[in-house]
Amino acid sequence: MWWADPNLASPGLLELLDERERGRHDRFRLAADRDRYVVAHALARLVCARAAGCDPGEVAFRLHCRSCARDPSKRGDSHGKPHPDGPARGLEISHSHSGERVVVALTRGVPVGVDVEGVSAERDIEGVAEIALAENERAALDTMPAGDRVAGFFGYWARKEALLKATGDGLSGGLGTVRVNPPDQPASLTGWDGPHAPERAWLSDLDAGPGYRAALAALTGGPVTVATHDATPLLDRSASGRG
Ligand SMILES: CC(C)(COP(=O)(O)OP(=O)(O)OC[C@H]1O[C@@H](n2cnc3c(N)ncnc32)[C@H](O)[C@@H]1OP(=O)(O)O)[C@@H](O)C(=O)NCCC(=O)NCCS
Ligand SMILES: [Zn+2]
Repeated sequence: MWWADPNLASPGLLELLDERERGRHDRFRLAADRDRYVVAHALARLVCARAAGCDPGEVAFRLHCRSCARDPSKRGDSHGKPHPDGPARGLEISHSHSGERVVVALTRGVPVGVDVEGVSAERDIEGVAEIALAENERAALDTMPAGDRVAGFFGYWARKEALLKATGDGLSGGLGTVRVNPPDQPASLTGWDGPHAPERAWLSDLDAGPGYRAALAALTGGPVTVATHDATPLLDRSASGRG
């Protein structure tokens, strides 16, 4: 796991992105969105290059949306989960950004999904909870102290989205199809409806600091050891052209 601050965005990092990514970066209207995007995408390349022992410029990403790939009328390879390619093939990656947080998760050979969500107190969670949460999940949320419920909702969301990003379905896979235990208990997957459920999944909450909820999912039955890094030195070195 690599955590970064979007304020580390710089022209040097933008140079690491490929043409498609730079095009998307340039289309964001808000500087904050551009910063999160460039830091997430540059860091994804840098950690892959570091793990593969190659230059960041040699790392390519193939995109694949598992939900759209199931529908012959849609293109599953124009968007979706980034799969490292070139010398970085065989590595698995996921990244997420929200507010002042950027996070990249990297494994060797095990599909991974990460999600960080800023807890937004203004957001009306009632309507979204109807769609995103199962009845027993909503009931568990209702038993929590009123002041903890919005954060609890985002805790549910981060866990479910991390799982859906690990499989490559994304939100189109349906937050309501994935069931997890109450957010004030250690994370675990309790059920997955439909034929596209993974055979095995590991799930954990991540500490993203106050005002954030984050989760990490890996499609494995084995034990998972998480190493957490601050990405600042890697990004600083790269932004200043020192490798
Ligand atoms: C993509 C999605 C998972 C992102 O969630 P989010 O909370 O808005 O954003 P995050 O920062 O957590 O994650 C974004 C990253 O997830 C990755 N991602 C995109 N689709 C993914 C998928 N199907 N599976 C796994 N990862 C995916 C990308 O790397 C993306 O980075 P980018 O937006 O900077 O290119 C979610 O918005 C989604 O599934 N949207 C689908 C809606 C849509 O666009 N539908 C049409 C095509 S299916
Ligand atoms: Zn899709």
